[in-house]
Amino acid sequence: MDSSDEPGMTGVMVIEPMGNAGPFLVKAAARLGIRLYAATDERVHAGYEPWLTRSLAGVCLTELADTARALDDMEAYCRAHRIAGVAACWELLTPLAASLAARLGLPGNDPLCAKAARNKIAMAEAFRAAGVPAPAQAVVATAEQAHDVAASGRLGWPLVVKPAEQGGSWGVSVVAGPDGLDAAVAAAGRFTRAEPHGLPLDSRVLLQSYVPGEEFSADTVVHEGVPHPLPVVRKDTTAGTYRVETGHSCPAGLDPRTVRAIQDTAARAALAVGVRNGVAHTEVKVPPGGEPIVIETGARLPGDNICEIVEAATGVSEANAYLQAVTGQVPHTAPTHEAAAALLFLLPDRAGVVEEVVIPDVPGTHSQIHVRPGQRVPEPADSSGRVGHVVARAASVDEARRLADQVIADSRVKVS
Ligand SMILES: Nc1ncnc2c1ncn2[C@@H]1O[C@H](COP(=O)(O)OP(=O)(O)OP(=O)(O)O)[C@@H](O)[C@H]1O
Ligand SMILES: [Mg+2]
Repeated sequence: MDSSDEPGMTGVMVIEPMGNAGPFLVKAAARLGIRLYAATDERVHAGYEPWLTRSLAGVCLTELADTARALDDMEAYCRAHRIAGVAACWELLTPLAASLAARLGLPGNDPLCAKAARNKIAMAEAFRAAGVPAPAQAVVATAEQAHDVAASGRLGWPLVVKPAEQGGSWGVSVVAGPDGLDAAVAAAGRFTRAEPHGLPLDSRVLLQSYVPGEEFSADTVVHEGVPHPLPVVRKDTTAGTYRVETGHSCPAGLDPRTVRAIQDTAARAALAVGVRNGVAHTEVKVPPGGEPIVIETGARLPGDNICEIVEAATGVSEANAYLQAVTGQVPHTAPTHEAAAALLFLLPDRAGVVEEVVIPDVPGTHSQIHVRPGQRVPEPADSSGRVGHVVARAASVDEARRLADQVIADSRVKVS
């Protein structure tokens, strides 16, 4: 399965490139002259798309849910292939990447606090210890405990209820009062394993105080403990009980001081969870008239094609910067142009079987449909309810958003 290792070319092991950041890493590796290897499970590897298989110099087949075995297998593989860097492409696997890099003596994140980048309970503790602004919260195991916390008034209303370990807004609800609490705790506590690798999850539930305001993401590439901020991206979500991300746009349309405040806060969050040589994707909300508050951070590249939006708007390749950081090089993060890009998702208005999805072809935009006719889609309560997206590029962010809005308004989703 391995192609011959070309001496002189740097090799990077990606722990599971099957994910949204995979294509961006593949493109960046080609630009930087880096060979990419993957570590994955046999069953997951069987489902790799042909473009991904073609892009890899080799694959280490292991069992990622079995940490001890995966570390042994990957260490042996990396030594045999003279791997010079380790990258994680899947949030739940970021602690494994930190441990692997440490074993190999390669640039990586602090393995002792890497869990804080995947587990929101450990993350809250790390934020508290480092003084990173984050919502007040409590950990519960049952709805009864949740009612006790809510009745104490400590977190106020509305309350945000979420799983300790999950992504894609799965199981996250914003609850207005005690009536919604039982269902929200049940929804957040239902995850015990994460597919496709069957990784065991902490199924405890977090209650957080609700942070009002606009939402942004800011990524940070860190090299030898020094944070290099990346462009700030505005995030749109649904309102109400479920907060599904509906779009991302860059630049964020903020004054320079607020941009810097968001980038500084994101960098502190990244360092607090042990990111030392790598990248972090941080989500913040900015209350009206207030300072940024961190909702979460992950030691990985962003999902939702944010890499594409940032590169189209600024020329900065987050994937390049990440590969540079994990191979011990100073990352290139200086913008090379000033333009704008906006991505909007297409959501059905209810659950059902997809009959038809049509996204019009408009100059300055490109789109992708994520589902096939006959496929069942859930109600849009998390990111799995999105059926397609459009990306618009323009000179200004207002124009990019206008174009993307128009395409979504003219799109059709029929479910039965
Ligand atoms: N404490 C909070 N206050 C206000 N809104 C919140 C809070 N926590 C979460 N949210 C909203 O819910 C969304 C999803 O929450 P969170 O980011 O914690 O979950 P996730 O599943 O890790 O998300 P992702 O979709 O980024 O993987 C956030 O983007 C935000 O809009
Ligand atoms: Mg999030």
